[in-house]
Amino acid sequence: MDNLHTAAATDKSNTEFPPLKKIPYHIGIIMDGNGRWAKRRGLPRTMGHRAGAENLRTVIESAVDFGVKILTIYAFSTENWKRPKREIKGLMGLFHYYFDHELGELAKNGVQLRHLGHMNGMSPSIQKKITRAVEKTAENNRLILNVAFNYGGRAEIVHAIQRIVAENIPPEAITEELVSRYLYTAGQPDPDLIIRTSGEVRTSNFLTWQGAYAEYYITPVLWPDFNKAELYKALQSFNQRKRRFGGLIDEEELEES
Ligand code: IPE
Ligand code: IPE
Ligand code: MG
Repeated sequence: MDNLHTAAATDKSNTEFPPLKKIPYHIGIIMDGNGRWAKRRGLPRTMGHRAGAENLRTVIESAVDFGVKILTIYAFSTENWKRPKREIKGLMGLFHYYFDHELGELAKNGVQLRHLGHMNGMSPSIQKKITRAVEKTAENNRLILNVAFNYGGRAEIVHAIQRIVAENIPPEAITEELVSRYLYTAGQPDPDLIIRTSGEVRTSNFLTWQGAYAEYYITPVLWPDFNKAELYKALQSFNQRKRRFGGLIDEEELEES
């Protein structure tokens, strides 16, 4: 499936950012480095998370401007429960705040919100907010914003297997396409580009299945400082990649023949 579309369709206001040949249809972001951002300023980690949450608006708007259609953001992993209670409490509080204060604007701007992750384990009030937000924005189609919250790639696959077994699906019917349909991202194309901020070179259990052929872009920039210009750099880097998916690209095939 050709899930790239030309930048010609992107917003005219991008004069600062010359149009690019290819815009990834689906981008995933591992929003890392809030703690270090705060530490560098002598602030508590929670302040870094707050700055990170504020930065989301900029990045979502920039993604829309550049013509991205699906943005998946890693907000809280299944492993993040290992953090100190106080930090978790701060993160949950921020999540509530974000839903209460930003959802209206997101909905107005045509953002469709989806949740990737387990509902179990989260407080009932957060569960309710997520469900309401997903319902409220279901008809929007400018950008799909997948919020990976209480998300782990391995847990997602385990969850899919449990459902496949519970439905008595015969082994020969279990294909890659079928498994994909049991993931939280059912019906969506895989990410073309995965960005990780703050320089860590690992996936940390993000989009384990879906990211199998994604291009990775790692930047030392900390998440609260990752702005539109930084996103553009990631897109430029993406444009220089030659995606092969295990095969050969057209020019190589021509050289061979
Ligand atoms: C990312 O920032 C936010 C979450 C994981 C929730 P971190 O809190 O991981 O920041 P660093 O990696 O400690 O700098
Ligand atoms: C990944 O960041 C999770 C999120 C961004 C939500 P972490 O900071 O939790 O990852 P590790 O611990 O460095 O692998
Ligand atoms: Mg981190």
